[in-house]
Amino acid sequence: VQTAIGVAHSKLILIGEHAVVHGQPAISLPFPLVGVEAIAEYVPGSVKIDSTFYHGPIESVPESLSGLTTCVEATLDHLDLPHQDLLIRIKSSIPPGKGLGSSASVAVAVIRSLFAYAEEDYLIEDILHLADISERHAHGEPSGIDTLTITSELPIWYQKEEPTDLIEPQGDFHFIVADSGRMGDTRLAVESVTKLVKSAPRRIQAKLERIGEITHRARTALETASKHLLGQLLNEAQKELEALGVSDAGLNRLIYFARQEGALGAKLTGAGNGGCVIALAQNEMHSKQLCEKLKKFGAHAVWSFALKKNTD
Ligand code: PMV
Repeated sequence: VQTAIGVAHSKLILIGEHAVVHGQPAISLPFPLVGVEAIAEYVPGSVKIDSTFYHGPIESVPESLSGLTTCVEATLDHLDLPHQDLLIRIKSSIPPGKGLGSSASVAVAVIRSLFAYAEEDYLIEDILHLADISERHAHGEPSGIDTLTITSELPIWYQKEEPTDLIEPQGDFHFIVADSGRMGDTRLAVESVTKLVKSAPRRIQAKLERIGEITHRARTALETASKHLLGQLLNEAQKELEALGVSDAGLNRLIYFARQEGALGAKLTGAGNGGCVIALAQNEMHSKQLCEKLKKFGAHAVWSFALKKNTD
C-alpha cells in the first residue's frame, strides 16, 4: 500500500511503579484519552521521520529519538522491507515525560503502521519485542509494563517473569489524572531507586515489598468494588514512594489538594519527580468537580476517566 496508519493509546500505572522494576507486581491501566497516530507513506528517498520534535532522515534523529530509529530499522528487517522510500509521520496527543508512556506509544503506533504498510498481520509478541527495543534505549532497564499496557484494552496485573494477567474490575471507579507541568525522567528516577536498593538493601527492599503487598490488596479492592479501600491503598503507596524520593513538591501539592477536596486517595503515577498524579474520586459527579478544581489550582492538564465493570 502507499499509506498505512497505526494507532496506540497511552497508559497509566495505578499502583506498583518502581517496585515492579525490582520484582514486585504492579497494576496498570490503558488510558485511551490520549494517544499516538503514525502514518507510514511511500515517499521516494531515504527513510524519514516527521514529528513535533524532529523532521528529517532517520539516521540523524536527536539522541532522545535514537531508540525509535533502532526500532524502525528492526521492524523493517522483520518485515523484509527496504530501508528507503518511506516517510513516517507521528502525531501524538500524549505529553512526553509525564509517566503516560509516550515513548512506548510512539513505538507501538509506528510498528503497527509499518505492519499495515507491509500488509502483514502481526502477533502481539512481535509488537512487544520490537517496542521493547525502543524502550531499552529510552529507559535503560524498563520492566516492560508500558508496552504491555499500551497493547491491552483491560487493566493489567504485571510482575516480571510471570505470565501477565488481566484484571476485571467489579465496580465503577472514577479517576482523575492531573499533570504537574514538570517533565520527569524515567531513566533517572529508576536509577535513583536502584542506587537506594544498593546502599540500604534491607531497608529499601522492605519498602518495595510493602508496595508489593499494597498492590495485592489493591487488586482485591478492584475485584470487590471496594472504592474506599482502593483510595486508602493509593495513599499508602504514595507514602512509600515519597520515602523512596520519587515524589516532588509539584506532585505533592496536587496530591494533597485532591485529598483535601474529597478524593478517596491520590498518588503519583509513573516514574515520578515530575509528571502526573492519579486520584480516585467518590463518583462521577465528584470526578467532574475535582477536575475543575484541580484546573483552577494550577494543574497543567486534567483528565477524568472511569474504569467500569464489564457488563457484556
Ligand atoms: O514511564 P513511566 O514514567 O510510566 O515509568 C514507568 C514505571 C517504572 O516502574 C518507574 C519503570 C518501569 O519500567 O516499570
